Amino acid sequence: MSGWIETVAEAQRRARKRLPKSVYSALLAGSEKGVSYDDNTTAFTELGFAPHVAGLSAKREKSTTVMGQQIDLPVIISPTGVQAVHPDGEVAVARAAAARGTAMGLSSFASKSLRDVAAANPRTFFQMYWMGSKDSMERRIEYAREAGAKGLIVTLDWSFSYGRDWGSPAIPERLDLKAMARFAPEALARPRWLWDFVKSRSLPDLTTPNLAEAGQDAPTFFGAYGEWMQTPPPSWDDVRWLREQWDGPFLLKGICRVDDARRAADAGVTAISVSNHGGNNLDATPAPIRALPAVAAAVGDQVEVLLDGGVRRGSDVVKALALGARAVMIGRAYLWGLAAGGQSGVENVLDVLSRGIDSALLGLGHSSVHELTPDDVVVPPGFTRILGVASGAPGTV
Ligand SMILES: Cc1cc2nc3c(=O)[nH]c(=O)nc-3n(C[C@H](O)[C@H](O)[C@H](O)COP(=O)(O)O)c2cc1C
Repeated sequence: MSGWIETVAEAQRRARKRLPKSVYSALLAGSEKGVSYDDNTTAFTELGFAPHVAGLSAKREKSTTVMGQQIDLPVIISPTGVQAVHPDGEVAVARAAAARGTAMGLSSFASKSLRDVAAANPRTFFQMYWMGSKDSMERRIEYAREAGAKGLIVTLDWSFSYGRDWGSPAIPERLDLKAMARFAPEALARPRWLWDFVKSRSLPDLTTPNLAEAGQDAPTFFGAYGEWMQTPPPSWDDVRWLREQWDGPFLLKGICRVDDARRAADAGVTAISVSNHGGNNLDATPAPIRALPAVAAAVGDQVEVLLDGGVRRGSDVVKALALGARAVMIGRAYLWGLAAGGQSGVENVLDVLSRGIDSALLGLGHSSVHELTPDDVVVPPGFTRILGVASGAPGTV
């Protein structure tokens, strides 16, 4: 990788320059008008700090634990399907996370096997959707256990939104000759990206090896997506059933309402992530940082509360922790790092966040992330959204 990447915004610029247009656009994602996508980052900018100038701490502690795993900074890798970004894909991300002492979330739509990823980073959590029959879900859970996952992430916030105002990339079902011919002009316009694949003697992998049934080929991304779309959505009894199948730490990803957070806690989950799927799901769902305080107040003493969506800076991490998160998960920030520089690009992004956390802790006069409280953040009137309590007050539902 050429040179230090100063901010996540710079990683994004480099990713845009390096990736073929459709691959970059698949990473940017978002849905419909992009209201949630925009709000996820805007909301962080509305929060302020009131720093001290003396009496500051010379040492700042950033380590914590998430789902039983010790991590050196309160940032873990959120699961994403990263097909075609980089030949090493999720294995590079897992190595980078391991090198920086943090945990890896691996998507069931990932292009690398859980076994390889867990070998690169023993602190790996496997992510599943509610898809297929209960029998096939049991088999996938067994597979996750055998392949070494230390925890299960179950993502439930997906409503199959169609379309985005800025257009969706045409992703082929398979990279056959016809698809390659169509894609060639785009790829040739991005020689450095292409060269990475040439060097590794591989093509972008559009299959999902972690969803393969024993003895069968891995389904394609779209084949797996089709199975998911046809699966009737789960009830809370189903969530309880799923939780019972896994005897380790279990995170329910995609909560934004207080009532759902309580149901998740009742179902016996270890952790939840307050999330709107990075603005890729039901558009106009508020930024998770707005929903976090009410959710953390309701269930923070029963389950570990994480947040993901819109984290681009160490100071965003500090704001989330101050408002009740134990740690955050990042998505696009590391995908852009991966696109810009493979494993070292992801390490660089984690370093940017780590330094930003350190700087904010210094300014706020804290010696540890565990000292952060809501008093550390200036929250403007009308900022928060209290979803799922029906109190009738403004900003509540
Ligand atoms: C390209 C892309 C693919 C994603 N794929 C998955 C996935 O397979 N499983 C999942 O639980 N979340 C997935 N997500 C959501 C992320 O895990 C995370 O919730 C989101 O990216 C957080 O927002 P951020 O990108 O602003 O950090 C994906 C997000 C992006 C951008």
